[in-house]
Amino acid sequence: MNKSIIIAMTGKGGVGKTSLSAAIVKELVKAHPDKKILAIDADPAVGLATALGVEVKTTVDDIRVEFIKQAEQEGTKQAIEYLGEAKYRIFEALSENEHFSFLAIGRPEAAGCYCKVNAYLKQIISILAENFDYVVIDGEAGIEQVNRRVMEKVTHLVLVSDASKKGIQVIQSIDEVAKRLTMYEKAGVILNRLSTRAMTNDFNLGELPILARIGTDEDLLDCDMEGDCVFDLDDTAKIVVGAKKALQALEII
Ligand SMILES: Nc1ncnc2c1ncn2[C@@H]1O[C@H](COP(=O)(O)OP(=O)(O)O)[C@@H](O)[C@H]1O
Ligand SMILES: [Mg+2]
Repeated sequence: MNKSIIIAMTGKGGVGKTSLSAAIVKELVKAHPDKKILAIDADPAVGLATALGVEVKTTVDDIRVEFIKQAEQEGTKQAIEYLGEAKYRIFEALSENEHFSFLAIGRPEAAGCYCKVNAYLKQIISILAENFDYVVIDGEAGIEQVNRRVMEKVTHLVLVSDASKKGIQVIQSIDEVAKRLTMYEKAGVILNRLSTRAMTNDFNLGELPILARIGTDEDLLDCDMEGDCVFDLDDTAKIVVGAKKALQALEII
């Protein structure tokens, strides 16, 4: 099997990472119906399951917590040793439908345990990547997961921003860190939720290519209002068209 393509969606909160992740999964399914596709919700704020219309039974954090409990009961301080066993259990946490598989990191409850989940998540990505042709990761807002090398195996880094200074600053710092840790093969920017003026604005992004510019998507707003999922949007919805353009620019489809 060829090397898996691992796409990570990163950027500030609220810029459209989750909606675009779902639209990207939709386009991958359309372009590569015979390939194995995995969507990972790596954001503790969750949301990708809803955007994709899938139901979550077990999360990565559920499995982690269960293993720590087991390790404690058996008097071992090194819960980490149980990770080997936890590997195959991850496959139990996958939700599958005819088009793609889905895994959620979950919402860690105990304060301060995010970093542990991130360490675990990193291993899971490596394990699962071998079993899938395409992996789409909807990342946590901000830079933390890139910093902690959770995104180490990522081949394509997608930096999502709106037109705001803050949004652009966040993707610039994510790119700097990712580059320093040499974590991807290709990177690019999706500018989302743009005003008419911003659609033609010159954004100073240095060497980073702009993969797509997306305006306000009325279809997405309606889909939000109805509580429908992004995955069921028409192919003509701006967010779907933008996702397709970005994948073409990255030469993934
Ligand atoms: N191009 C767009 N046009 C209109 N609304 C959008 C657009 N992109 C995202 N949204 C809306 O903005 C909100 C935040 O998007 P979301 O994908 O959840 O962002 P993130 O995952 O980065 O926090 C959602 O309500 C989503 O429907
Ligand atoms: Mg999100």
